[in-house]
Amino acid sequence: MKRLGVLTSGGDAPGTNACIRAVVRTAIYHDFEVVGIHRGYRGLMEAEFESLHGRFVGGIAHRGGTILKTARTERFKTEEGQRQALENLKRHGVDVLVIIGGDGSLTGALRLQETGFPVVGVPATIDNDVAFTDMSLGVDTAMNSAVGAIDRIKDTATSHRRAFLVETMGRDSGYLALMVGMASAAEAIIIPEVPASCETILSMIKEAHGKGKAHFIAVIAEGANPDCHTIDQYLKEREDELGFGVRVSILGYIQRGGSPTAFDRLLGTRLGVKAVEELAHGRHGTMAGLLGSRVVATDLEKVLARPREVDLSLYELAQRLEIYPGP
Ligand code: ADP
Ligand code: F6P
Repeated sequence: MKRLGVLTSGGDAPGTNACIRAVVRTAIYHDFEVVGIHRGYRGLMEAEFESLHGRFVGGIAHRGGTILKTARTERFKTEEGQRQALENLKRHGVDVLVIIGGDGSLTGALRLQETGFPVVGVPATIDNDVAFTDMSLGVDTAMNSAVGAIDRIKDTATSHRRAFLVETMGRDSGYLALMVGMASAAEAIIIPEVPASCETILSMIKEAHGKGKAHFIAVIAEGANPDCHTIDQYLKEREDELGFGVRVSILGYIQRGGSPTAFDRLLGTRLGVKAVEELAHGRHGTMAGLLGSRVVATDLEKVLARPREVDLSLYELAQRLEIYPGP
């Protein structure tokens, strides 16, 4: 009987447990023995292997995080680390691997594939920066968590007539900030892909105040770098000029945790099934992604050639809606 290994790596993403469940059950269906590798590539190098049975993955699809745990490790980027990982896979009789993670983890997957070890990847990252999938696992849940938080912030912002700078995650990508900003009808969205001038942000806030707006919400991607660097300090020093009091709220890790939305559970399930089917049919070196309404496997090399780009036409659309018409 062939053995299929599964691991989760990098930043955790809601929907991953539904994916693990689908991987394990589909692998059993295709007569694989299944081995779970704990703590990503670290566990692969330190041989944290465990046999997984169908029952092991019962009752997990609704849970956030990853039951297999995750890690980031520099050692796996080295030849020595990869050699150790391959040795452990051989010793435990693992023939093929499903790797669930973001662009870094998928790059690690490609390194293994290049040595001749068969892998299939599943994109899981709230940043949504992996190409050849419209959505990565966890993005939908993160968006919903952030929008819920901003709705609450808006209540207090309106009560005090304040301007809020709300920071979202996303590493170097502005995707999460843009989508969250649009969905929460923010007054401004600041993303790394579009350089922001602090004077422009200042004058937008002043204009909104002048037009009688009760609050001002600016959603800022963590990777954005407005030309004054510390935009919060810049605005706070100009509160008198702005009219609004200024407050900052960093949403942080609440975006990464929590029970996955139905969308992420379904996506995790569909991508997990596809990943195993690829391997069961002798195909590898690919990533299962969602393109339109279809689940499609694309060569990892092609996937990793460039990051997924933010659709700037959506940014322009959001900007048009930001203009407050006044009373
Ligand atoms: P994510 O997968 O969420 O993007 P990281 O970028 O931190 O998160 O990558 C997760 C792990 O993948 C890293 O800690 C490392 O072990 C592995 N990895 C990242 N880049 C490479 C690379 N170029 N070669 C080999 N392994 C890599
Ligand atoms: O890649 C997912 C992500 O949550 C990014 O949005 C963020 O920049 C990073 O991970 C945070 O990483 P860590 O969990 O190592 O602090």
